[in-house]
Amino acid sequence: ASFDPARRAGSSFVVVANRLPVDRVENPDGSIRWRRSPGGLVTALEPVMRANKGAWIGWAGAPGTAPEPFDEAGMHLVSVPLSAEEVEDYYEGFSNATLWPLYHDVIAPPVYRRDWWDAYVRVNHRFADAAARVAARGAVVWVHDYQLQLVPEMLRALRPDLRIGFFLHIPFPPVELFARLPWRQQVLRGLLGADLVGFQRPGAASNFLRLTRRLLGYQTQRDQIFLPDGRVVRARSFPISIDVGELEEIARRPETERRAWEIREEIGAPSKILLGIDRLDYTKGIAERIHAFAELLNEGLLTPDEATFIQVATPSRERVEQYQLLRDEVELAVGRVNGTHGRIGRPAVTYLHHSHERTELAALYRAADVMVVTPLRDGMNLVAKEYIACRYDHTGVLILSEFAGAADEFRQALLVNPYDVDGLKQTMLQALRMEPREATRKMRAMRRHLVEHDVDRWASSFLTALSGEPGR
Ligand code: ADP
Ligand code: F6P
Repeated sequence: ASFDPARRAGSSFVVVANRLPVDRVENPDGSIRWRRSPGGLVTALEPVMRANKGAWIGWAGAPGTAPEPFDEAGMHLVSVPLSAEEVEDYYEGFSNATLWPLYHDVIAPPVYRRDWWDAYVRVNHRFADAAARVAARGAVVWVHDYQLQLVPEMLRALRPDLRIGFFLHIPFPPVELFARLPWRQQVLRGLLGADLVGFQRPGAASNFLRLTRRLLGYQTQRDQIFLPDGRVVRARSFPISIDVGELEEIARRPETERRAWEIREEIGAPSKILLGIDRLDYTKGIAERIHAFAELLNEGLLTPDEATFIQVATPSRERVEQYQLLRDEVELAVGRVNGTHGRIGRPAVTYLHHSHERTELAALYRAADVMVVTPLRDGMNLVAKEYIACRYDHTGVLILSEFAGAADEFRQALLVNPYDVDGLKQTMLQALRMEPREATRKMRAMRRHLVEHDVDRWASSFLTALSGEPGR
């Protein structure tokens, strides 16, 4: 991303994230265009982007040379190139085989490799350089997520005039786990380059505060960390949300309702449908919930005519070994339960390993009597919020893991410990048999909370806190 003289004045609002918020689409004639990716984060930031000549710095998603900076949907997009080797070492390696499992309770064993760390440092420098070139004097720069934890410090060194915020979308681990990271001090110092560090849950913010005391010896008071150079950094929780109105509008369309009915017919018209929608990731507890459902069928506590399961598992990080192992485990479990309990035209579990349009997801949410969200650990889990957004008629039951950030907000969900197979089975039965009046009471309360806490409110509360920080 070279400096663009036409934009010498720079942007007064800059987002830095691993991925650009656009997808590459190939036209029938072979030419390339970029389409805004679906998702709450871009939607929430779009008004701020438009009002501030906003820029977004990110990777275009493929190895090799990056496209020239371009404008799309009111944003200036600057793409950061990654070589094939950097995709392996920085993205698949350090981000997704070291940090991802370490920050998610070491559900899979993290791999610590010095060459991956070197690539992480190098790529973080590249993002920081790009941000330093694009940002106007005194601009606000918002850095996102675990792939870019060193950017705040690097950027501050290049551009001390900037206001820098950082938000971590995934969990932040307790001292005992974080302390295993061979580069723990560097990561903490990287984050402390920000004026405000945001987390999904209050517990994550306290983990971070405690770590700065224990590993760096800094003083803290409430949400403030006092640095030796006199700067004050704040660490607080800002639970992320979704664009509730947009999804509810899709859910209310007559064609969505028709499609929901069609889905039910196509899988053999069961009385009840249980649904899981996740990236195929070992943090999501997909195999655990299929095993629990299979046991209910094996023990005769449920028949597939009473209830069938639809599991959407979006392909993700497919070159990382743990994801390949998980895919085999899930597909074996699905094959086994269907071989035993399926009939022609009426599977026990319908398993879909591909991505879908939002209209199809909304139809699935409308079709589902019970939504099963059972991650072993999850920063927030937006799928739970999307289900609630689609249940505008106050029907449907949400089963939600205690270990998802969303559990802080939705105490009326059926909360479960996903490691407890018997508990999971009992909760599935309870959900399937719940009185409609009780389900409605719960869903109404959850919707009330969600509607008041959508993604716009999340973005504005973070940005307001960032502009109001004491800083230096
Ligand atoms: P994570 O960020 O770990 O993937 P979340 O539940 O917070 O988990 O967010 C997942 C997002 O991906 C949701 O917005 C969901 O609608 C979307 N999604 C999940 N599965 C699919 C799919 N098969 N096709 C398209 N989008 C999907
Ligand atoms: O929330 C964690 C996260 O890594 C997001 O940053 C990302 O949008 C999503 O999961 C999908 O992951 P990836 O960018 O690795 O495909």
